[in-house]
Amino acid sequence: MLEVRDLHASYGHGDVLHGLNLHIGEGSVTALIGANGAGKSTVMRTISGLMKPTRGAVLHMGQDISGLGAERVVRRGLALVPEGRKVFAPLTVAENLEMGAFQYLIKRDTTRYQAQLAFVLELFPKLKERMDQAAGTLSGGEQQMLAIGRALMSAPKVLLLDEPSMGLAPLIVKQIFEALVALASQNLTVFICEQNSEITLRHADYGYVIESGRLVLSGKAEELVADARVKEAYLGG
Ligand SMILES: Nc1ncnc2c1ncn2[C@@H]1O[C@H](COP(=O)(O)OP(=O)(O)O)[C@@H](O)[C@H]1O
Ligand SMILES: [Mg+2]
Repeated sequence: MLEVRDLHASYGHGDVLHGLNLHIGEGSVTALIGANGAGKSTVMRTISGLMKPTRGAVLHMGQDISGLGAERVVRRGLALVPEGRKVFAPLTVAENLEMGAFQYLIKRDTTRYQAQLAFVLELFPKLKERMDQAAGTLSGGEQQMLAIGRALMSAPKVLLLDEPSMGLAPLIVKQIFEALVALASQNLTVFICEQNSEITLRHADYGYVIESGRLVLSGKAEELVADARVKEAYLGG
């Protein structure tokens, strides 16, 4: 359903991705594991339309979405939970969630908005208690739930997450991954980039390992989790 073909990307001084091929099955949890600087965020930026690939393509349901730009990629049903969460700190939880639903709110589609809001608050009931609180005052785990909730407000078919476990306690990380698995079981396609290989692969169906902008390994998550090379990538090679 989501396919990355021969993906190359650059920040202007030569490519940092050197021809990646990824297949992310519908309703699966797929993981991209790699150390700091391996190219994970660059993959996420090119899929979500924040960056244009220098070569190759991103196909969603058979259609080339590369170079469309971030807003149109959201309209095509892909939503990014960015690295470091990037919640709007001075805005309330409710306002952050509204931002994720802009495409429905500008059309005054309040039915869709209310439905997505109910869905998000059922998934993360903690957010319900904090709707009027400034996002910047939430704990790290709550901010991550908010960042995921904000992305879900656009009613995506594909959820892209850039290092969702970063800086969070293991128990919170487990809760977040369990929520992602539950979403995938409802046929949402989940694609996660992580350094935290073990817990990610334990919740994923399929995994890829990236090193210096190239894939070095791929396979079923349950097989990769035991692989010494995965542990090496996690530790930084
Ligand atoms: N804004 C940027 N400008 C220039 N180089 C960048 C920028 N962002 C990332 N890079 C470089 O691209 C490579 C991949 O980075 P990134 O995708 O952020 O890796 P990861 O997310 O796996 O830590 C690294 O060599 C990094 O230094
Ligand atoms: Mg990154």
